[in-house]
Amino acid sequence: MEGLFNPDAKDLVAGAAGSTYAIPRLGIPSIVVADGPAGLRISPTRKNDNNTYYCTAFPVATLLASTWDTELIGNVGKAMGNEVHEYGVDVLLGPGMNIQRNPLCGRNFEYYSEDPLVTGKIASAMVNGVESEGVGTSIKHYAANNAETNRMALNVIAGTRTLREIYLRGFERVVKHAQPWTVMSSYNLINGTYASQNYDLLTKVLRDDWGFSGMVMTDWFGGKDPVAQVAAGNDLLMPGTPNQTKAILEGVKSGKVTVKDLDRNVTRILNLILQSPKFKGYKYSNKPDLKAHTLVARQAASEGMVLLRNVNSALPLPAEAKKVAAFGNSSYDIITGGTGSGDVNEAYSVSLVEGLQNAGFTINENLNALYSAYLKTAKEGKKKSRGFMMGSEPIAEFTINSDIAGSMANISDVALITIGRNSGEGYDRSPGEGDFQLTAVEKETMKVVADAFHAKGKKVVVILNVGGVIETASWKDIPDAILLSWQAGQESGNSIADILTGKVNPSGKLACTFPVRYEDVPSSKDFPGKVLAVTEVKDKKPENGGMPSFMNPKPAEDVYSEGIYEGYRYYSTFNVPVSYEFGFGMSYTSFEYSNLKLSSPKFSGKMTLTADVRNSGKSEGKEVVELYITAPAKSIDKPAIELKGFAKTRLLKPGETQSVVFEVTKDDLASFIPGISAWKADSGSYTVKLGSSSKEIRLTGSFILASDITVKKESQSLLPQVKINELKP
Ligand code: GLC
Repeated sequence: MEGLFNPDAKDLVAGAAGSTYAIPRLGIPSIVVADGPAGLRISPTRKNDNNTYYCTAFPVATLLASTWDTELIGNVGKAMGNEVHEYGVDVLLGPGMNIQRNPLCGRNFEYYSEDPLVTGKIASAMVNGVESEGVGTSIKHYAANNAETNRMALNVIAGTRTLREIYLRGFERVVKHAQPWTVMSSYNLINGTYASQNYDLLTKVLRDDWGFSGMVMTDWFGGKDPVAQVAAGNDLLMPGTPNQTKAILEGVKSGKVTVKDLDRNVTRILNLILQSPKFKGYKYSNKPDLKAHTLVARQAASEGMVLLRNVNSALPLPAEAKKVAAFGNSSYDIITGGTGSGDVNEAYSVSLVEGLQNAGFTINENLNALYSAYLKTAKEGKKKSRGFMMGSEPIAEFTINSDIAGSMANISDVALITIGRNSGEGYDRSPGEGDFQLTAVEKETMKVVADAFHAKGKKVVVILNVGGVIETASWKDIPDAILLSWQAGQESGNSIADILTGKVNPSGKLACTFPVRYEDVPSSKDFPGKVLAVTEVKDKKPENGGMPSFMNPKPAEDVYSEGIYEGYRYYSTFNVPVSYEFGFGMSYTSFEYSNLKLSSPKFSGKMTLTADVRNSGKSEGKEVVELYITAPAKSIDKPAIELKGFAKTRLLKPGETQSVVFEVTKDDLASFIPGISAWKADSGSYTVKLGSSSKEIRLTGSFILASDITVKKESQSLLPQVKINELKP
């Protein structure tokens, strides 16, 4: 069945991404689907309607993952689901959960982590939270949509172990632990076949291997051949075009589409509709509890911010440090989230300076006036948007010279310097200045401000208002403190102030690595893929059913030759230094780990580990405890460490202790062995490492697996058509 791109599909909720056909004679209503991962995205106003339809802009997915707090994410999901339900939408098109393979992917802000366990656990919590409100989700983009450049014709070439252990693993966890109503297939090809036309991906893996019983929809205008999509098990073609309808009807007549496949797909669509609030006749209020959700957004934001540096007790700011000199465009024009379908139409956003003023600080008015006037003029000169769904052109940083810095240092107590970065759907970031790298003006500002304030014995705090990883190694020793605030949603300024004042003790930890240089990233040599000369392309320009021109990409390919060695798996195995490691995050207090106990020295199907975490510092705080395992590399190579569990303590008072418990199953010990298409745990000695980051290991232990276990046989699927020389330690 098709979606909205047809005259008689009604615009039931203005601004929603799409809807399905109604068939009144059969009592089948039209259901509505809308984005996105950071909150519901619908139009905030409607023609001839005085009401408003604002939604809460929650923190972006990358920040949510940095909380490492599945319970909190469930609460965020519940609040988001309430807005979906009360605004008359049936399925939220989220969470986005592709692996952050490369820091420059434009949509990394919409995704959780470089690690499949963090991705799967956080996404499961989000799905359960949203769906607890009686509406559906669509986990996306299934699978291996790790770049935006040429996304609709990019062929991802990867080995089966790489796919199963890294790019599919998070989706597998969500399907098995959260039963999402729908899955959204991705634009790209995998090993030569469009994801939305890939029977291996959508039927053999998703349904036969994992037991998914919900419905699969395409991404908007995704794929090329509607007949192949029907056959592969892609049930719903979104937003749906007349060309696709025609192709399917012709397919039925010619026998290329079997009625059996069509009935199967339609059944799944009807099962989705049967679950929907629309079918149940829910009388939605159009009045979700936005006020309550604001508190959820503010709390989640402060829990996902990561304290990267704090020397000379710079933070929390002392009570008397009330006069703040705020530098950086983003101090006055906060970036609450990324661009494209992951954006939200919120009623307001709290800038950094507003958040500081709300917390009782005095912002230097001259600086405020300088930046505000500069930003106003700069914005007038810029086009509102760079193109379909793309955000506005970034504004170059206002130049701060040593005179301004010096005069501010004389009259202010502390300097804040905000570095802002944005990106979004449809395009990837740049490794150069102004994106991954700081600009010369940003570096100069940091230098002159630090020189001036340090000369007066005053502190300098850098705030990273970014949606993804940037270069930090070359400048991180200049300021006294660095707070990674990410893009924290509409309450950003208040949440940052909560951390700076110590009202909230930072407890966020990195779910992605900050490398020293972009070139250290294993995929930096091939990202975002190589455009193919026309002769290399089997099918010429992909047909696209009348989709907007910007979606006419160049056929390209990207060979994932790093294999499973992406993110910390790579840096730890190949001993590549990083600027900030996976799992890293500081606190205003300190924690001691002790008393690691394993349920047995020998693994027999399941292992329970416990340990004690004590707040050994002077302020209350929460700690994320990370469980890594080093497995014996017998039948196949293994990374130096792999994350196998994590737990976040409650708020511990100074001196208070909490025991954390981890369950390790044979699934956790197994690697995917392509030759036998099965998950297998090798016999041998396994080392357990409990850490406050992937490098700060506090406790270790070990256990023996006496004999190999073949944990699960999988279908032979997604075989690459070419030999891939995958990286090996
Ligand atoms: C977009 C995005 C997808 C979104 C959909 C509907 O192109 O790739 O994430 O849900 O279209 O807006």
